[in-house]
Amino acid sequence: MDIVLEHFNPKGYEGDVVLLYGNEVADRALPLSKKELDWLKANREAFSADRQDLTAGKQTDKTCLVRFDRLPYHLYVVCFDGEAPQPVAQERLRRAADRVVQMLKADRPSPSTQGLDAGQLSVAVTGVGVIAEEVVAFVEGFMLADYAFDRYKSSKPQHVEKMVVDEAFLSEEELERSVRLWKEIEWCRDCVNLPVADLNADLFASQLSQRADSLGVECTLFDKRKIEALRMGGLLAVNRGSVDEPRLVVLEYRPAKPVNERPLALVGKGVMYDTGGLNIKPDDYMREMKSDMAGAATMAAVLFAAAENCLPVHLVAVLPLTDNRPGFNAYAADDVLTMYDGSTVEVVNTDAEGRLILADAIAYAVACYAPELIIDAATLTGAAVRAIGTYGIAAMQQHAENPFNLLRIMGNQVYERIVELPLWDEYDSLIESDVADIKNCGIAQAGAITAGKFLAHFAKQTPYIHLDIAGVAFFSKKQDYYVAGASGYGIRLLYAFLQTYDMTIGEVRSKN
Ligand code: BES
Ligand code: MN
Ligand code: ZN
Repeated sequence: MDIVLEHFNPKGYEGDVVLLYGNEVADRALPLSKKELDWLKANREAFSADRQDLTAGKQTDKTCLVRFDRLPYHLYVVCFDGEAPQPVAQERLRRAADRVVQMLKADRPSPSTQGLDAGQLSVAVTGVGVIAEEVVAFVEGFMLADYAFDRYKSSKPQHVEKMVVDEAFLSEEELERSVRLWKEIEWCRDCVNLPVADLNADLFASQLSQRADSLGVECTLFDKRKIEALRMGGLLAVNRGSVDEPRLVVLEYRPAKPVNERPLALVGKGVMYDTGGLNIKPDDYMREMKSDMAGAATMAAVLFAAAENCLPVHLVAVLPLTDNRPGFNAYAADDVLTMYDGSTVEVVNTDAEGRLILADAIAYAVACYAPELIIDAATLTGAAVRAIGTYGIAAMQQHAENPFNLLRIMGNQVYERIVELPLWDEYDSLIESDVADIKNCGIAQAGAITAGKFLAHFAKQTPYIHLDIAGVAFFSKKQDYYVAGASGYGIRLLYAFLQTYDMTIGEVRSKN
């Protein structure tokens, strides 16, 4: 979808128009007759979607969507509560945007029969009683909801090709910065949706390195021999049952005047496919495991977006890539691995593979970059999904209270929310091993936490935040503007965090 800023008058516009109607201060500006306006006001309540949702307290979402025929076009009026707190108003507009996308497509099922430009779905957006942030949120929801992974479809589903946004609301520069972020989300979704047959560790690594080159991001690519030389026992063990070699990709974005002296490390789980290995996943549990590299794709997307928009934060992304298979010489339960940092790990279950490759990546970041903060993103545990479902990220932190709080705040702002699980000392006993320093999984209880504990062991004293995105990275069915399939969930969160990162940076440093 192309987005362009234009000046336009909704009363004379030839085409479909969306009008965001926040409050009633400027009724005369509306392209509606007095009768229509009276009707709209009278029915506003009745049309409201009665959904009790969104943050603390029960705030009913009374956003309503009304379509007026202006044949051959339509006018879509989104009535929303302009008085609601900003994060809530913005989220309602993202969700309303999804409803507009669905309605728009239903209204133009077959463009060629309409006498309009064949295949060219386009729409213009304006509003009254609405602020720039709300318009941006609407366009964001619209972009995200209009995404489709249609690479393998012979007949492509309909898309909105062009969106005109009323230039009264934002500048070209502001729009472009947002569009760059949204394009990264689309790129991430594409990567995660691709099956392993078409995106293995080698192909993904090459794509990362090509993209890095074109964006002026430094990229170091480690092949199997170099990973062996580094003695990354976790990554190598997980890779042993696969014919595809592992890769380790390190991306570095170093802005001219960074706010941080030492880099912020972003680590992402890149299991290209998770069969479970010899502890093979039964029945349907293997479905959707092409998404097990979502953490790596998320962190790459965040770093690329930061680079494209010149955010002043020095970033390093460490991305371990391999699939997890039960092939020929696959690693087995009872194996003892020596990890990059020298720790030994007893393998209890080969399906707890993510933490093994992440452990090496985290330890590598600590040893080679001395980062002031490490954040990882990983589709790590079914336990995280069971704990909070698909409405947020199960998050943990060690020595990183301040940045964690900032992340929580930004999560509420952009509606990609995190909830903290504890990393209390008592949980250490669950991953104590009889034969090695630590084992790769504990008992059935507290599965998301013992996974976090395992990783925290490798972060040592470095402030560390762990994001278990297993519940949100890939949706089996559409969830508002997150279409079915890969979501890109967490990219907006981390980008927003980076935009305000210097707010806590002092405190992070003084802790070390
Ligand atoms: N990739 C999975 C976790 C997962 C499950 C992600 C469902 C998305 C949806 C991970 O590698 C895994 O298999 N975890 C095991 C760990 C267990 C063996 C300790 C799990 O959660 O069952
Ligand atoms: Mn697994
Ligand atoms: Zn996995």
